[in-house]
Amino acid sequence: MKKIEKEPYSRKEFLRTAGSAALFSALGIPFITSCDGSTTDALEGPNGSGNGNAGGDTDGITISGNQVIIDLDSTAGAPLNSSGGWLLIRDAQVLAVNVDGTVIRAFTSVCTHQGCDTSWQFSNSLFTCSCHGSQFNTSGGVVRGPAAQDLEEFNVSKDNSNVTITK
Ligand code: FES
Repeated sequence: MKKIEKEPYSRKEFLRTAGSAALFSALGIPFITSCDGSTTDALEGPNGSGNGNAGGDTDGITISGNQVIIDLDSTAGAPLNSSGGWLLIRDAQVLAVNVDGTVIRAFTSVCTHQGCDTSWQFSNSLFTCSCHGSQFNTSGGVVRGPAAQDLEEFNVSKDNSNVTITK
């Protein structure tokens, strides 16, 4: 019987397979693996975009039971005054967006893929969950997976400068 010998692990092969992870690690670059095995750079959070509220200054935003009341005249609520402005209200797990300058919509910030609720971006009328890249439109509908279900939409009412979101 012929003995099958395994090729020794060459230095070139080792460097090829270990090189990318070691390089990212050495440079201190965040390395995120998505569920399909591909990799991507970490996405910038809402604070970085300067257009979302990730839970810092929340004066003007009141959470009471299943309601979130946002004062549009406050600094925290101001982004919702203009088209494309949005908020991530972490403590209430709510995303809110001014769709077209007049209509404000609100959704759960709990991603329907694996439940990430704090890593969102909004641009080009799309919410992106940074955890694995799912995208949702301004109706909460899935535009790109891996998420397969739409975001739950909450009722929104407006009274003068107060917007009330009811979960
Ligand atoms: Fe996976 Fe949002 S938790 S895309």
